[in-house]
Amino acid sequence: MQIKVPANEAVSGATIRFENVCFRYPNAQQDTLKNINITINPGETLLIVGENGAGKSTFAKLLCGLYKPTQGRILFGETDITAYAPQDYMRHFAAVFQDYTLFAMSISENICAMHQPMPERLRDALVKVNMFDKVAATENVESTSLYRIFDENGVEFSGGEMQRLAIARAIYKDTPVLILDEPTAACPYIKGVRVVDVYRGEEGCAINVRIFFSCADLTAKGMPLK
Ligand SMILES: Nc1ncnc2c1ncn2[C@@H]1O[C@H](COP(=O)(O)OP(=O)(O)OP(=O)(O)O)[C@@H](O)[C@H]1O
Ligand SMILES: [Mg+2]
Repeated sequence: MQIKVPANEAVSGATIRFENVCFRYPNAQQDTLKNINITINPGETLLIVGENGAGKSTFAKLLCGLYKPTQGRILFGETDITAYAPQDYMRHFAAVFQDYTLFAMSISENICAMHQPMPERLRDALVKVNMFDKVAATENVESTSLYRIFDENGVEFSGGEMQRLAIARAIYKDTPVLILDEPTAACPYIKGVRVVDVYRGEEGCAINVRIFFSCADLTAKGMPLK
C-alpha cells in the first residue's frame, strides 16, 4: 500500500496524525495495518493506492474513528481521537465507503440526511457531481422517491449515478475532511479536483482511496471531550 501526499498549499489548522498505528481484525492471525505513521495537514489531499485487501478502507475507517487502533494512536490536533465523543468527531468527516447505501426516500432526504434541506446547498452538491440536470428532470426532488420499492413512480438511476448521489450527500455535509473510498469513473471531478486516476501496478490494480483535508480554519480547539 502506498500513501502519497502531494505538496499542496500549506494552511494552518489542526493536523491528523497516525502514530505507530497497528490494526488487527478480531480473530485475525496478523495485523491488517502495521506501524502506520503519517501526518495529514489541512489543505492536503491524501491518495492511498494499493491492491485489493491492502488495507485502504481499514485506514479510512480508523481515520473516521469507526475502528480503534489495536496499537498506537491517532491524534487530532494534540488529542487522541478516542477522547472525543463520536458525534463531535464525525462532524469533521464525510465519507463515501465502498458499501454506501442510498434509501428508498426522496432524493432530497437522501442527500440532506436528517437535516432541514437547504435548497442552494443541495443544488450546489448536485451540480458538483454533475447530477443536477438529471435530478431536475424527475418530477419533484422533494417528494419523488429513489427506487420503486415503496413508490411506483419512484426513479431508478444507474450504478454510477447512484454513486454520484452518494458523493453529493458527502459534499452536502460540507465537512473539513472528505473521504472517497474508491470513487469510480462515475465522478471524475469534484470541487474542481480530479478524483479518479487510474493507477496500474504490476498486478493491474486501479484502486484508490482519496482523502481531501480541505478546511483552512479547522481546529480541534473547542471540540468537547467525552
Ligand atoms: N470486517 C472485517 N473483518 C475481518 N477482516 C476484515 C474485515 N474487513 C476487512 N478485513 C480484512 O482486512 C484486509 C484489508 O481490507 P480492506 O477492506 O481495508 O482492504 P482494501 O485495501 O480497502 O481492499 P479493496 O481494494 O478490495 O477495497 C483484507 O485482507 C480483509 O480480508
Ligand atoms: Mg476498500
